[in-house]
Amino acid sequence: MSETPVKIGFVTVSDRASSGVYEDLGGPAMQDWIGKALKTPWQPEARLIPDEQAVIEATLKELADEAGCCLILTTGGTGPAKRDVTPEATEAVCDKILDGFAEQMRAVSLQYVPTAILSRQIAGTRGSSLIINLPGKPSAIAECLEAVFPAVPYCIDLIE
Ligand code: MTE
Repeated sequence: MSETPVKIGFVTVSDRASSGVYEDLGGPAMQDWIGKALKTPWQPEARLIPDEQAVIEATLKELADEAGCCLILTTGGTGPAKRDVTPEATEAVCDKILDGFAEQMRAVSLQYVPTAILSRQIAGTRGSSLIINLPGKPSAIAECLEAVFPAVPYCIDLIE
């Protein structure tokens, strides 16, 4: 019998990528990393949206509540720039914030670049979904996922 694939949300938050000014590299980078890490079947739910808090919140809610994603990864919009609001949107839709994810991602990231301190990335749960913010740079996506992924399947089991 074949296993039902788990749904994973991939949200690229970028004004420029969503308006076609440049190619979305973050979304494919997240999917690529998950494809190499997961041995069980999974199905992507990919979204490409601008840095608008209401749009980010609506997208996260849709992926968690309607699409039924057990894991939602976002990329971009975590820095200090005026348009960066991904952490605010994530916090607004989460039931619980998991500070350890952000602490670990920044601690590990600082071993790669001193500018990692600029990411305000957070993680939390909404219902049975785990939401994790990642920075926009593809290399940062891999560095952050490597830092926290060992805890992800257990966390998803706990919130099921
Ligand atoms: N984290 C890792 N692991 N590697 C990186 O290169 N870049 C930083 C930081 N975190 C980086 C990183 C930089 S330069 C910025 S501005 C912030 O993430 C925020 O990025 P974002 O606004 O694209 O989310």
